[in-house]
Amino acid sequence: MTDHNVHAIPVIAIDGPSASGKGTVAQAIAHTLGFHYLDSGALYRIAGLAVVRAGGNLEIESDVLAILLKIKIKFNDSQVLLDGADVAEAIRAETISAAASKVGAHAQVRHALLQRQQNFRQPPGLVADGRDMGSVVFPDSVLKIYLTASAQARAERRYKQLIDKGFDANITALLQDIMLRDQRDSERAAAPLQKCPDAIEVDTTNLSVAQSIAQVLSYYRQIPGAGLGVGVD
Ligand code: DC
Repeated sequence: MTDHNVHAIPVIAIDGPSASGKGTVAQAIAHTLGFHYLDSGALYRIAGLAVVRAGGNLEIESDVLAILLKIKIKFNDSQVLLDGADVAEAIRAETISAAASKVGAHAQVRHALLQRQQNFRQPPGLVADGRDMGSVVFPDSVLKIYLTASAQARAERRYKQLIDKGFDANITALLQDIMLRDQRDSERAAAPLQKCPDAIEVDTTNLSVAQSIAQVLSYYRQIPGAGLGVGVD
């Protein structure tokens, strides 16, 4: 496919802070429309996990880059493969959330992951979730959503998720972690988390998951020429 044609493939960019529900909403939209789905955070999480496992220093860009260039990453249905081993569960640990946020602060690391993310743009379309989907990776997205919720609401959701999975959790520590990650992700120099001027903000603090999905879908369907979707509604 030529570069020219690639731009004809619609992308819906869903950016926002940690635990705002981006993943759930983005996956549901992709499913409804029959689009591909990019979980860009998973790439940063894999990089973070690889650095932690290799005993590298997350704060040193050259360390992180050297490790990142050596590893093999593959997505296979629900599997996330790091050098052939499934790390889908391991990358969700809270320690790896922090590691991902640290590796994401390095400009060269972001650059090394750019093409890999853009390769997910395949017909009939893509829903991409992250921090810089609309600003950097897919600036020509047909729809840019900034999905957010209050830090307290996000901490409560994460708490419930962890308890439901049978893990121990502390709401105060979770709130602190979320606020720290928000600060690191939005204050870094390289592609910081930001609401693009052309993004629509959806605040899910008082919305259910179904309401959040319906709202984003209705924005997409207002775009002239946007299909109604081929998946299950
Ligand atoms: O979306 P997530 O919580 O899985 O992302 C984990 C971390 O990865 C996040 O705190 C910052 C980093 N990240 C990023 O820098 N850019 C992205 N597009 C996605 C994630």
